[in-house]
Amino acid sequence: GCGKSMTALAIMGLLPEGFARAGGRIRLAGEDLAAAKPARLRALRGSAMSMIFQEPMTALNPVYTVGDQIAEALRLHQRLGRRDALDRALAMLRAVQIPAADRRLHAYPHELSGGMRQRVMIAMALACRPKLLIADEPTTALDVTVQAQVFDLLKALQDEMGTAIVLITHDLGAVADIADTVAVLYAGRCIEQGETRAVMRA
Ligand SMILES: Nc1ncnc2c1ncn2[C@@H]1O[C@H](COP(=O)(O)OP(=O)(O)O)[C@@H](O)[C@H]1O
Ligand SMILES: [Mg+2]
Repeated sequence: GCGKSMTALAIMGLLPEGFARAGGRIRLAGEDLAAAKPARLRALRGSAMSMIFQEPMTALNPVYTVGDQIAEALRLHQRLGRRDALDRALAMLRAVQIPAADRRLHAYPHELSGGMRQRVMIAMALACRPKLLIADEPTTALDVTVQAQVFDLLKALQDEMGTAIVLITHDLGAVADIADTVAVLYAGRCIEQGETRAVMRA
């Protein structure tokens, strides 16, 4: 409860109703998101920046197939037709290493395991090749072996696509493994920040 998710939601322009901004700036590739209009933030979300959450079941829509959900962002932001968007959705399912992806494309979220659902979320978040991906405790709901697979996947996709990843996690092993820089939050404040190796050593 130290404000990690709130910070992520603030970056995305998704703070709940009733939150007021006290100050500060949020820059994405030089653009101040804190000053951006809602329409601009809507255009950036899902294309320039996207976010994956702790519990994929609450973030996925139960009444649409995973293929249609991944395709939606592509149709909206990249103006692809249904056929092309589904082709790209299939390529994304393959990129996140979902077995039998062509069959899974037409599956509903409840037909997939927790690990598979989190991979679908990652596929959806990366479909438009955003500059920034925020992963808010993406593996907390998963068992340990699947956690490691998801971290490996994020790392591989980052190498491949060059997406900047803000990973929110309690898993210091994953931080040491994945992060170039780390910020340690405690009781709402950043109490330590720096190059991962230096922070770990200290
Ligand atoms: N900057 C902030 N200003 C006001 N309230 C905050 C702020 N950050 C966190 N909170 C409050 O603390 C609660 C927990 O924050 P959250 O970001 O969900 O913590 P976590 O670090 O566990 O993700 C939020 O629901 C909100 O009420
Ligand atoms: Mg949180």
